[in-house]
Amino acid sequence: MSHIFPRHSRQSPPVAVRGEGCYLYDASGKAYLDGSGGAAVSCLGHGDRTVIDAVKSQLDALAFAHTGFFTSEPAEALADLLIAHAPEGLDRVYLVSGGSEATEAAIKLARQYFVEIGQPQRGKLIARQQSYHGNTIGALSAGGNAWRRAQFGPLLLDVSHIAPCYPYRLQRDDESPEDYGLRAAQALEDEILAQGPETVMAFMAEPVVGATAGALAPAPGYFRRIREICDRYGVLLILDEVMCGMGRTGTLFACEQDGIAPDIACIAKGLGAGYQPLGAMLCTGAIYDAIRDGSGFFQHGHTYVGHPAAAAAGHAVVSALLDRGLVARSAAQGEALADRLEARFGQHPHVGDLRGRGLFRGVELVADRETKAPFDPARGVAPKVKKAAFEAGLICYPMQGTIDGRQGDHVLLAPPFIVEDAQLDELVDKLAVAIDAAT
Ligand SMILES: Cc1ncc(COP(=O)(O)O)c(C=O)c1O
Repeated sequence: MSHIFPRHSRQSPPVAVRGEGCYLYDASGKAYLDGSGGAAVSCLGHGDRTVIDAVKSQLDALAFAHTGFFTSEPAEALADLLIAHAPEGLDRVYLVSGGSEATEAAIKLARQYFVEIGQPQRGKLIARQQSYHGNTIGALSAGGNAWRRAQFGPLLLDVSHIAPCYPYRLQRDDESPEDYGLRAAQALEDEILAQGPETVMAFMAEPVVGATAGALAPAPGYFRRIREICDRYGVLLILDEVMCGMGRTGTLFACEQDGIAPDIACIAKGLGAGYQPLGAMLCTGAIYDAIRDGSGFFQHGHTYVGHPAAAAAGHAVVSALLDRGLVARSAAQGEALADRLEARFGQHPHVGDLRGRGLFRGVELVADRETKAPFDPARGVAPKVKKAAFEAGLICYPMQGTIDGRQGDHVLLAPPFIVEDAQLDELVDKLAVAIDAAT
């Protein structure tokens, strides 16, 4: 009889006991190919010796020193490394313990920034439908996934949500991808004007939408236009790269491929790569200076911000990504995976769209390829894919509600960057078995 409060009380998951490379093993010895890195976490795979040794030696030297009293060598080193490789303008790093803490800190920093610079009327946040920014109240308010928000409605902040940039479903036949990108971005300007530009503090978006939309990459030019609109109205751009950052899409920061830089960036997941709970919020020098020259104190903090062992893991992970050429490998193996998905599912009667960047790939499932009609949500296609894949020894990340939080099914794939071609073959073979069983 377990005393763990599990995610689902009617399921009893197997006990994971060991991880090695791209595989996890349960107590019975069964191997699972980690085709989604859990939830886009394990970018280095399992059992990476360098990261494990870095954490161990940090624990031997210093496990914890509260940031109310001290800074620490690993935290300083990780901040330096991130800023050396971050998009232009980002200058300061606030280390936290996960993605929700990073997005929550970003929202509060945006608000405090405007108070510090004498624009206290700016308090509104705009985000997008079908995005996910975390499960704490602020982050959940920013997220636009109806299913995750539903029962917490009375607790949530008043955040407005514009439509996502979703070429497969929202680009018109008479539009080029570029024209669609501009039209989709226009929704932000319309919303800023509707809200009153002087009251809006920030726009928050995932460059490539992960969990709730299945590796949904933007149309060309979309984010350039978003950046222009934010600049025009003095609105901060917060990019949530918790899932798509740290090399997952083939560049260290996903927004590099869109040719823009944010005012605030959030990263997590692949930053700690599963070796420690770790996230970070990065902000520009201008934002930091406003705090420094104003109150001098960000009214925020958690006990474990800047945790030395977590920072040591993050430094070892980012060093591994850079020194072992793993970001380029994510791009290359991402293409290899995309080719295999196209070959296997390009004409599949129940696969409507294959999308993504790097080793961040999405498969959108449909009842009818021609009309793009989704499956009846009551059929539970995504959960069935997850179950069938797991039985076959594949971990993938299927989700329902792709279209509007209720309708639509997709499978998210995010294997470790060390994945070999033969493992990509195994992934696609097992996924095909699972999709055929569930549809
Ligand atoms: C884009 C994005 N932001 C934030 C989060 C929340 O991160 P965490 O679960 O570490 O709190 C997630 C988690 O899936 C995410 O995908």
